[in-house]
Amino acid sequence: MGDTTIRRSYTEIADLYIRLFGDVSSVDPDDLRFLERNFGGCGGVVLDVGCGPGHLTAFLVDLGVTAHGIDLVPAFIDYARANRPEITYEVGSMSTLDVPDGSVSGILAWYSLIHCEPTELSAVLAEFRRMLSQGGMLVVGFFEGEGSFAHKVTTAYRWQVDEMSATLHVAGFAEADRLHRPATDTTRPHAALAARAK
Ligand SMILES: C[S@@+](CC[C@H](N)C(=O)[O-])C[C@H]1O[C@@H](n2cnc3c(N)ncnc32)[C@H](O)[C@@H]1O
Repeated sequence: MGDTTIRRSYTEIADLYIRLFGDVSSVDPDDLRFLERNFGGCGGVVLDVGCGPGHLTAFLVDLGVTAHGIDLVPAFIDYARANRPEITYEVGSMSTLDVPDGSVSGILAWYSLIHCEPTELSAVLAEFRRMLSQGGMLVVGFFEGEGSFAHKVTTAYRWQVDEMSATLHVAGFAEADRLHRPATDTTRPHAALAARAK
């Protein structure tokens, strides 16, 4: 899906998104432990790509990680900067970042690949691999399952965990950790993978 559509769709609901999800208290504690386990102690820069309101970037910074946030939506970046002025947040697209090869130690893509069409996913992961140093850590969080659905913001895609892991493998990553949470009455099935750049 094009950046313009995603930017417009999130801009329309930015205030609501920030209110509902823009704080770490809205994140499942298991997910926070997963992030801490896989990024805690990470030297070098970690990019939170598709950071939204920036709360997970701030979570990583509070763990002692040098994390920077990047998002397509200016309203999210304005909020993130106002909230945590000492953290670097920039407007940008994860697929066209002016970041040198092998220059970052980690990338977090937490629900920011969900609008990426299956045919586009490999190219985005290849771009992540290009930016990461060897052994660098990529963490992705996503809806677990198959096919697309009408997400509140704009069309979103689910992936089976094994399918995502295999796609990561082809893009030059080796799975290091995974998390799976079945659906509840109020939440969709969730998965996260951590993978190291080979
Ligand atoms: C579901 S939100 C997740 C936001 C945040 N990671 C969180 O956990 O709350 C998806 C985010 O990805 C961003 N996004 C989607 N495609 C992007 C792209 N190509 N470059 C940068 N950000 C993107 C959207 O603007 C949106 O803020």
